[in-house]
Amino acid sequence: MRKLPLADRQVPVIGQGTWRMGEDRGRRQQEIAALRMGIDLGMTLIDTAEMYGEGGAEEVVGQAISGRRDEVFLVSKAYPHNASAKGLPLACERSLKRLGCEVIDLYLLHWRGQHPLAETVEAFERLRQDGKIRRWGVSNFDVMDLDELGTPACASNQVLYNLESRGIEFDLLPICQQLRMPIMAYCPIGQGGALLAEPALQQVAQRHGVTTAQVALAWLLRQEGVLVIPKAVHPEHVRLNAQACELQLQAEDLQTLDLAFPAPRRKQHLEMV
Ligand SMILES: NC(=O)c1ccc[n+]([C@@H]2O[C@H](COP(=O)([O-])OP(=O)(O)OC[C@H]3O[C@@H](n4cnc5c(N)ncnc54)[C@H](OP(=O)(O)O)[C@@H]3O)[C@@H](O)[C@H]2O)c1
Repeated sequence: MRKLPLADRQVPVIGQGTWRMGEDRGRRQQEIAALRMGIDLGMTLIDTAEMYGEGGAEEVVGQAISGRRDEVFLVSKAYPHNASAKGLPLACERSLKRLGCEVIDLYLLHWRGQHPLAETVEAFERLRQDGKIRRWGVSNFDVMDLDELGTPACASNQVLYNLESRGIEFDLLPICQQLRMPIMAYCPIGQGGALLAEPALQQVAQRHGVTTAQVALAWLLRQEGVLVIPKAVHPEHVRLNAQACELQLQAEDLQTLDLAFPAPRRKQHLEMV
């Protein structure tokens, strides 16, 4: 698995998402097995959040990484309403308990809320000093939010980025690349929806004998400072996703995709899911 630098660590360019996990006890064993299989295949960065399944996803992750915490780079996210001086340490403690571990590798603010950014940053820094988190970062932050944040300690920005949502290429992506702040692309395969049936993607996939989801991931991964966190429970999906970093798209492929999904020509507001 190819890696990229995230703050002081090297992390795999393909990680694993967990939204929609932990919502149904009947699916729990499959979800745990999928995450374990993903770790075996090198997708050792796992992204979760206190929001997913209202803690259920963190519990699934906790069970999946039990006995193999050292192999994993663990990312979790706090609700904006918990991102205060008092609320953040409590939220972090609850997440750690569900995850069954002592430290989160990267703790993100899920999106901006009512608490002043300076207060949230101070709370993150305190958690770091206390050894509860190793790094912190943000999610759904546009250029103006990053300007306001104005701190080099932010380790990553997790945003919506896929072929259908290319708005960040106009400004946010180059700015993050310049800051050496990796973009963690969420919904990289458009939530497994209509994107995967697009004729342009099918054409490129056929050219290489791969799937459209793999093309969608490889298209993101050709860029510096971008990592992807597809979520997959189906074992075949997990296997195919891990292989996507081997796919090298050619100029002809990029042209086909640009025609169907044009790059932004002006500033677009950051989209969110
Ligand atoms: N920060 C934020 O605000 C935010 C927002 C949204 C998401 N996220 C994070 O980003 C992660 C990824 O986003 P997402 O889960 O919304 O969408 P996604 O990863 O783009 O798509 C997930 C869907 O695609 C299917 N799938 C996975 N691999 C596939 C493959 N190779 N071929 C065909 N279908 C495939 C999955 O099915 P199966 O599960 O059945 O395999 C699932 O239904 C989330 O899980 C979460 O961790 C963050």
